[in-house]
Amino acid sequence: MDSLTFQNMSKAYGGVSALQDVTLALKGGRVHALMGENGAGKSTLIKCIAGVVRADDMRVEKDGHAIPLASAQDAQAADFRFIHQELNIVPQVSVAENILLGRRFPRRFGVAVNWPVVRARARDALTFLGADHIDVKALAGDLSPGDQMLIKIAAALVTDPKTGHQADLYVLDEPTAALTGEESELLFDVIARLSATGAAVLYVSHRIDEVFRICDDVTVLRDGRNVSSCPIQETTKDQVIRDMTGRDVRDAYPPRAQPYAATVIAQLTSVQTPRLRDISFALRAGEVLGVAGLSEAGQSELLDVFMGLEPVVSGTARLLGRKLPSDPAAAWQAGVAYLPKERRRQGLMLNMSIQANILAPHLHTHGLVAKAGRERREALTMGAKMRMKYDSIDQPVGQLSGGNQQKALFARALHGQPKLLLLNEPTRGVDVGAKFDIYQTVRAFSAQGCAVILTSSDLPEMLGMCDRILVLQDGQQTALLDCASLSSADLLSHFYAPAAKV
Ligand SMILES: Nc1ncnc2c1ncn2[C@@H]1O[C@H](COP(=O)(O)OP(=O)(O)OP(=O)(O)O)[C@@H](O)[C@H]1O
Ligand SMILES: [Mg+2]
Repeated sequence: MDSLTFQNMSKAYGGVSALQDVTLALKGGRVHALMGENGAGKSTLIKCIAGVVRADDMRVEKDGHAIPLASAQDAQAADFRFIHQELNIVPQVSVAENILLGRRFPRRFGVAVNWPVVRARARDALTFLGADHIDVKALAGDLSPGDQMLIKIAAALVTDPKTGHQADLYVLDEPTAALTGEESELLFDVIARLSATGAAVLYVSHRIDEVFRICDDVTVLRDGRNVSSCPIQETTKDQVIRDMTGRDVRDAYPPRAQPYAATVIAQLTSVQTPRLRDISFALRAGEVLGVAGLSEAGQSELLDVFMGLEPVVSGTARLLGRKLPSDPAAAWQAGVAYLPKERRRQGLMLNMSIQANILAPHLHTHGLVAKAGRERREALTMGAKMRMKYDSIDQPVGQLSGGNQQKALFARALHGQPKLLLLNEPTRGVDVGAKFDIYQTVRAFSAQGCAVILTSSDLPEMLGMCDRILVLQDGQQTALLDCASLSSADLLSHFYAPAAKV
């Protein structure tokens, strides 16, 4: 395939337009980036191409010939493959079944499923991806989020052994948001190999460095319209950011305005939990403490300790001079706010309104009779502070774009003057402009004496925002580093360094 063009793409939800007359021209053998702020229309465009959402208007031409694209079947027939933004694996079934989901399962004599063949095809896809460590018989729900993403990618890579035919188009909607650095490298290698087969690749990401590294062309959308489209060599990162936001955004971390206080907010001494050991630190008011390590080294568990979700087995732990909260409700009441990593699974009630989601853990502060007007004002204020894009605060949060769902969680965490803010991957899936807003908000809270514990797979973000970084290796604290003169390389070397007694 040489060329694939999508013309005059339009889509409105109710009266609200998500795409307006957008054109996208892809070429075989080239990786094309689709960029834009949260809510710009990227996922909507992809869902229209996938036939999952019905475009109000769209013309598609493959090598100059018009093709129909009105349903998921049409997209399959056109040899398009998709990795959508939200993880939607089936947790209750095996990895192999997830990888072949939606395909015709190979059968013996046309009747019973031929399991050895199903597993072999799943294994081939994982091997192509370089993810052999995943057991095709394992339950998908037992895998880490990174591995779950890898099986979704493998599912898009399965080829039909009869024809051996590769797809003509691969579409990836923010695939690296849930991946670690090492896993992303696997994916970049696969993308290079796919485009070498002559397929077109459409790639959505908010990570601009990544886009400049692996993409050949870039199209920018703003408010559902085309802003620019060109080969990546003909533009710059600053230009792309201006195209996306319509303003200059500093791609940097706001510095700390004043030193933090000496008051200790939390003190842990030789703490052991089911998943952690040797945890010792004193967290001070206004301090931003990072928690880092290889993926799944215990970062989330350390945050969970303060939510009463990871019980302390031995050692001593105090928060604001008292013992730790025993459950999340008690934690929110004690002034601990929490931004979870898995927004769909742990964070949001997707069918409930934006307002309900922002205010949920705070309703105890509103007394017995809820004050409807005041609640609404508070939710609106928080939504505006986070520059959320929505039609109405009563809209179900599940209708928001991925990044705006993350902002709703952030608004919830910041609402109600927290004394300790726990941030797990706070900028995952968030656009550049909003990232800077989030960093400034963190600085503002810290300046008011709120202590922050932050974990992120984005190392520059950790180094740019944290005062100290606690390093974990397989659940054990192995270092507590001052960030003042720490480089990425220094930090990384601690992830692998042999554990010394702290
Ligand atoms: N099912 C829906 N009902 C109503 N509005 C929707 C629906 N899906 C998307 N929208 C709206 O369409 C607009 C575009 O959303 P879309 O998901 O395409 O954004 P995006 O560019 O992918 O953003 P992100 O980077 O945050 O993922 C948003 O304003 C969103 O609220
Ligand atoms: Mg999206």
